[in-house]
Parts: sequence; C-alpha cells; structure tokens
Amino acid sequence: METQGGTVDEAAIKNASKSTLRNWRRLGANPNGRLTKRANKTCSTKRRVPIEYLTNRANVEFIRRFVEFVDANGVPLRDALGALASAILRERRLVDKMNVVDVLNAERFAPVPEVAGWTPPLGETDLLGAAYLAATFEGERNLKGAYYTPRKIAETTTADFDFSGGKTFCDPCCGGGAFLTALKNVDPEQIFGGDFDPIAVFIAKINLLLKFPNRSFAPQVVCWDFLSDGAKEKARAAGFPEKFDFVATNPPWGAATTPCKKRKEQIAEKQTLALEDFATKDAFERFFAKAFDWAKPGAAVRFLLPESVLNVASHRDLRRFLTERVRLERITFRDETFAGVATKCVVVSTRCDSPSETLEVEDAQGVRIATPAPFFATKNRVFSFPTPEDEAILRRVRELGRFDLSESVWALGVVTGNNREILKRVPEKGCEAIYTGKEIEPFVVKPPQFYLRYDRSRLQQVAKEEIYRAPEKLVYRFVSKRLTFAYDASQRLFLNSANMLIPRVPGASVKTVAALLNSELFQFFYSQTFASAKVLKSELSELPLPKIDSTLNRRLERCVAEIVAGSDERVVEINDVIFRFYGLSGAQVRRVREKNAQEIKCVKTRY
Ligand SMILES: C[S@@+](CC[C@H](N)C(=O)[O-])C[C@H]1O[C@@H](n2cnc3c(N)ncnc32)[C@H](O)[C@@H]1O
Repeated sequence: METQGGTVDEAAIKNASKSTLRNWRRLGANPNGRLTKRANKTCSTKRRVPIEYLTNRANVEFIRRFVEFVDANGVPLRDALGALASAILRERRLVDKMNVVDVLNAERFAPVPEVAGWTPPLGETDLLGAAYLAATFEGERNLKGAYYTPRKIAETTTADFDFSGGKTFCDPCCGGGAFLTALKNVDPEQIFGGDFDPIAVFIAKINLLLKFPNRSFAPQVVCWDFLSDGAKEKARAAGFPEKFDFVATNPPWGAATTPCKKRKEQIAEKQTLALEDFATKDAFERFFAKAFDWAKPGAAVRFLLPESVLNVASHRDLRRFLTERVRLERITFRDETFAGVATKCVVVSTRCDSPSETLEVEDAQGVRIATPAPFFATKNRVFSFPTPEDEAILRRVRELGRFDLSESVWALGVVTGNNREILKRVPEKGCEAIYTGKEIEPFVVKPPQFYLRYDRSRLQQVAKEEIYRAPEKLVYRFVSKRLTFAYDASQRLFLNSANMLIPRVPGASVKTVAALLNSELFQFFYSQTFASAKVLKSELSELPLPKIDSTLNRRLERCVAEIVAGSDERVVEINDVIFRFYGLSGAQVRRVREKNAQEIKCVKTRY
C-alpha cells in the first residue's frame, strides 16, 4: 500500500479477502499477488491513498489503517465501508435519524463491529470515498474511471449555480458525490445523482445525509448505467425529473467503445451533428453528448475534461459538437492534476442553447473573451485561444498562404523491430550511421549515436530507398511541441523518432522550406494554431506557405547553406527576412518572440 505510487504490501497479500483475490484474478494478478499482466494499466494491482482528494492530509493514516484492516481480516470492502459509514454517522449523532436508518438498512451490510466501533476523524469532505478509492486497485479504478474530484474544483465549477425557484441539479456519474455535496444554497430535494457503481451510490447517499444533518429526506441517487437506454426508465422509477437545470460532472476518462471506421467517416462528412453521432472511443465524449438529453433548454452543462480535448485529433467530433450544436460559454484551464491521471484538466462550460459568437477563456492570467472563429481555421477544429493581437499575426500568415505541404513526399524513419540487437554504439565493419530524433537540430544533424548493418530485409519497417537517399530532404522531430527541421543532403538514414519530408512547394527550394519551417514566425503559427504535443504530418500539411520570388528564395537558400556549413549568424537574418516579408510591426515581432519564449518554458516544465 502506498500513498503516491508503489505496491501492495506483501503481508497484506497473504491475508487478502476473497473479494480481493477475486479482483486480483480479474485484473490479471494470480492469488499469491504476482502480476501476470503488469504492463497494462487496467491490470495494475497498485493502490494509493488519493491524497489530492483529502481535505486533511493527516487522515492518510486513518485510511491506511482501514485498508490494512480490510486486507488483514478478509472483510468484504463493501461491509467494511458500511461499518465505517455507521461510525461516521454515529460520531455526527445522525445514526438514529429515520432517513439515515432507511439508507443503512436498505444495504443489508454484514456487521463489522471492529470498524463500526472506531472513532473516525470528522471534518473530512468524503472520508468514505477516500477509503474506498484507497482500497481499490488502480486497475479497477482505471476500468471504472473512478477518480473523484477534489472539493475545491467541484465547488468552483458550480459556484455560480443559482438554485432559486426549485431548479434541479444532476451529476450522472456522481462517484462519492463530490459535485452533489459541493453545491451551495440548495435543498436536498433539488439534488440528483447516479453512478453505475453501487458502492459509489451508497457513499454519495451518506455524504448527502452528512451535508444536510437537519433535514429529513431520502437522498436521490440511483444506480444506473448512464450511457444505456435504461437510465431514463430508472430515473422515472426513482421520481427524478425528465430534465435538469444544471448538469455537471467529472466523467470517466477511459475508453468506451470504438466506432467502426465507416461510422467515423460518415460523421466527418456531416455538416451538422446529432447526439447519436457520438459513439467515439472515449467515454467522456459519450457522457458529454448524453448529458444534453437530460438538460432543459437553457440548462448549464459543465464537464471536467482532460486538456487534450482541446487539440487532439481524435476529439475533433466533440469539438464540432461544442461549436455547432450547443453554446460553448467558457473554457477554464485548471492547474491541478489528479494523482494517477497524468493529464491536466479543463472545465468546459456549455449551455443547452444555440452556438454563440464569443466564449470566455479563463486561465491563471484571468478571464478574456475569445471568438470560436480560429477553431474553424484547421481541419481538426483545434481549440486555440489567440488574443486579438495574436490573431492578427496568424491572419497575416494565412492571408499570404498560397501553397501547402500536402503534395510533398513524406516518410517515416526506420523501425528495426529489435533496436537492442540491430543498433550498435560503435561502427562495425559494414555498418552505416543511423540518426534519431535527438540528433535533429534546426537545420543540422548532430553526430550519430548509433550504427547498423543496413540490410532492408532484416528491418521491420523501412520507407522507400529513394526517400532516404534523396539528393535533398528535410528531417524533423516527431515527439516535440516545437518545429525542428534539419536539412540533409548526405542521404542519411533515420530511425522512427524522426520523420522525413521532401517538400514540393512551387518557387521554394528544400532549403527555403527549411528556413520557413524553422523560423520564429512559423513556430509561433504552429504552436498557436495546433498546440499539439507531437509534430503531426496532418498539421504540417495545413501550414500556409507563401509564394516566394526567386530573389528571396536565393537569399534564404544562401542563409541555410551557411548555417549547414556552421555559421549560426544567418539564423537571425532568416527570421528578420521572414518577418519583413510578412510585414509585421516591431510590436508584432516582439509578441512572436515573447510567446515562443513562453512556449519553451512551458515545454521545459512539462517534460
Ligand atoms: C471520474 S469519476 C468522477 C465521479 C464524480 N463525478 C466526481 O466528480 O467525483 C467517474 C465516475 O463515473 C462512474 N461511471 C463510469 N461509467 C459509468 C456509467 N456508464 N454510468 C454511470 N456511471 C459511470 C464511475 O463509477 C465513477 O464513479
């Protein structure tokens, strides 16, 4: 057991309960605790106390004690949580209230007197939820998408909801009820929730009982599969309204179903999207689209989503939905990450209404108004949020765009199939140098780190020989937020951390294209337009390249030739010439440099 990473205690493994062993088997560990599928995250038998979910970090010890007790005594987790709930309710003097008794009795827990007799710490926002997550394997949490939202995020996400006039709220996958219990100035009758995990449903109910100690009410939380057709029926049977005024949640971020290719193509062709078009692979997209089935006209729908939703190509359909079908009101960048979930998150605030001309963007610098227009500038509808000043620069680059790289020749580097065996650190007889993405610098290739015997039949994947051996080509780093293109006229080989490009752009030589792509202006354009963590061919192909006259072409070519020969000074000249060509003002040039510098800082802190 650990708090931020690490493994299950070996002693605990010996005393694991039946249900624990069942879980291990399900998740790919054998009964003596040895993982059979360690590599797969959904099979992970690691556990962690969700520190970020706790109000008081000192309570880690209590939670550890709970998990150790469950492991050591073979008590079903469900019953142990029931006993812990009773102990908390007893300490809060609520355990004898009729509505509380009803909730506890409905569950038919087997008694666990030891835990029921404990004195749990009070004041923790969701002690039960934290204990539940801590006792659950990462693999299982991953399958369910069970990463509950820290109180502060749930509070700020819902802070402006006005519950006057009996307005209603629903979290359709409420987990322990982080959103349900974060609401302010609201009656319990106005709060609704559901989850497909019965233990989460129980915990959410207890947390609502604790939130409203002086009210006599039955918590309105049901066990449902929100994505299934049966959810509406369950809601009706439980007396839920058909639609709500507010829907907010942090949905599961894992995979759901993968649509067939044909379906995806049909979606891409359509001008407008309907909800049923949403069958894409990530569960959160389906939750998001489904939420609008449950939202009244004008209702606010807010989701906490991974930041990748803004720019990753696979979420293009969701971005189309956000811009075409609903009113996208605000995107809030949050700095927090959840332990166990690597990505940063954003709150996407929408309304069940027609699309609007502007939206708000909130980040550490404050709130500003943006227009969705730039989203439509790229094929993948990438959500970038340039300021009006930045947008003027981007527009200028687009205005002068006459060509693109779509007609160029593209190729991947070599996949050896067995780097350890095939790559050599020192050149042996008959070996040739092969370069990786790491050796690629702007314009130049650094000395090689590896060599191989270039027998094409032994390599797993190789591009056409004439591409590697082209008289001139560009090679670029693929895993990078920045554009880094080296010029190669030495017919070098590259591994698959580098991609190759033989540009075909009227009027611009290979060297001139290298000058444009490595320039400060194109770096700015690329990162402000696509914001990708990888340099993608599809996005490079969309870069608007200008018509260059022969004088400028010759000048840029000369500069690149000198840089390749070792003179760095020409880099400054290239940038100046390109800025001048686009007619940017001094302030605009400073802005480009400032943004690029920020990007570099950002890349350094993230990786
Ligand atoms: C990321 S957690 C968030 C829980 C809660 N909304 C919060 O913000 O703390 C996602 C929740 O979705 C639930 N869930 C996953 N698939 C579901 C489904 N098909 N229907 C209902 N709930 C589901 C999981 O059990 C888990 O509690």
